[in-house]
Amino acid sequence: MTDIVPIGSLPPVGEVPSRMYAQTVRSNRLGDPADAFRIEEIEVPTPGDHEVLIGVMAAGLNFNNVWAAKGVPIDVIAARRAQGSPHDFHVGGSDASGIVYAVGSKVSGIKVGDEVVVAPGSWDPNDPYVLAGKDPMLAPSAQIWGYNTNFGSFGQFCLAYDHQIMPKAKHLTWEQAAAPTLVGATAYRMLHGWKEHAVEKGDVVLVWGGSGGVGSQAIQIAREAGGIPIAVVSSEDKGEYCKSLGAVGYIDRREFTHWGQPPHWTDNAGQKAWTAQARAFGKKIWDILGERRSPRIIIEHPGEDTVPTSIFCCDTAGMVVICAGTTGYSAVVDLRYHWVRQKRLQGSHGSNAEQSNAYNALVLAGRIDPCLGEVRSFDQVGQAHQDMMNGKLPAGNTTILVGAPTAGLGASS
Ligand SMILES: NC(=O)c1ccc[n+]([C@@H]2O[C@H](COP(=O)([O-])OP(=O)(O)OC[C@H]3O[C@@H](n4cnc5c(N)ncnc54)[C@H](OP(=O)(O)O)[C@@H]3O)[C@@H](O)[C@H]2O)c1
Repeated sequence: MTDIVPIGSLPPVGEVPSRMYAQTVRSNRLGDPADAFRIEEIEVPTPGDHEVLIGVMAAGLNFNNVWAAKGVPIDVIAARRAQGSPHDFHVGGSDASGIVYAVGSKVSGIKVGDEVVVAPGSWDPNDPYVLAGKDPMLAPSAQIWGYNTNFGSFGQFCLAYDHQIMPKAKHLTWEQAAAPTLVGATAYRMLHGWKEHAVEKGDVVLVWGGSGGVGSQAIQIAREAGGIPIAVVSSEDKGEYCKSLGAVGYIDRREFTHWGQPPHWTDNAGQKAWTAQARAFGKKIWDILGERRSPRIIIEHPGEDTVPTSIFCCDTAGMVVICAGTTGYSAVVDLRYHWVRQKRLQGSHGSNAEQSNAYNALVLAGRIDPCLGEVRSFDQVGQAHQDMMNGKLPAGNTTILVGAPTAGLGASS
């Protein structure tokens, strides 16, 4: 049996060691990410029938493992234990680029040595809902890989279902390839997954956090469909970055103060002040467009701070599509704007295989910039999540080198 290898290397392709290094979270350390993650030596998992073992070259950072580290809104380890998992640790990481080292007995079309990335939507291939041909992300077994599931990409080897495996773009380095898939596929479902509100040519799309993970991908996906993206950001630099990705303009949210739950509808003075700010925010959109047109689609994730404004500014019969509540979950919808203008507030989570592959096809074709912001070393996993939580990461996506010895490797022309 091959021995454990140092970080920054992998054994010869196909030779699987019994032990590996991983950044783990444990229930007794839940809290600030900087302290919750620790490097431990653990077993290398064995792939089940439909599973694939990947030697991780680089791992992508996502907000979901900020939540996993904090145990908010759930302790993912306790949740898995309640379902019968024998493991008392969490190896997170929902984005990976790497090399296939082993495949389960029922895997076809994927072989040892393939260079791959991993789609974040995970479900049991034997789930009757999935076998019935329905959207697997709505199935009872649907989960987010490397968050709900164990053995994500913050270990030297990660485990995923065969339906999650997608080809790595040859023109990208390992760290670039690990950057965008979770946020990109999520944004793809938000923009293309909801019938009647799939983005179309000429649609105005407002994107909160335009320079962040979800936002930077949403801008590009909307642009590719002929949409007109407008970003919301908190600095001029971030705004200019969004324009470089295809946004026609940006709003600096620091110019406004009406965030969070609006005053109660019976508070006339409070409502008047709140509405004045919301109107001024909406006018910024019209000023950018040069016409009085409101967004048909709004990409939401801040949640409690911004949902009231999103509902207010969304066009008649438009959609606010939301994948998170980063600032809080008690978002208020003023039903007057919601029902009279017949707007849609749509939840969205992960992506199914069709959506992940459609997104990856754009990456393979070089149409999407993976928006690599920063590359960190393996021992930085906790601090990098801490910095993400505190809004201190540069624009785009941060990745971690795991098996790759240095940045800049893995691309071929
Ligand atoms: N459900 C899913 O499938 C799914 C998938 C991916 C991500 N998510 C979730 O989506 C959220 C965003 O993820 P991400 O990767 O895009 O994070 P990110 O890279 O940190 O970007 C988030 C952006 O939100 C903006 N922001 C922060 N506080 C804000 C506030 N109070 N009001 C308005 N905007 C604010 C920031 O931009 P500015 O400061 O420039 O405004 C920041 O760039 C996270 O909660 C994540 O867990 C969910």
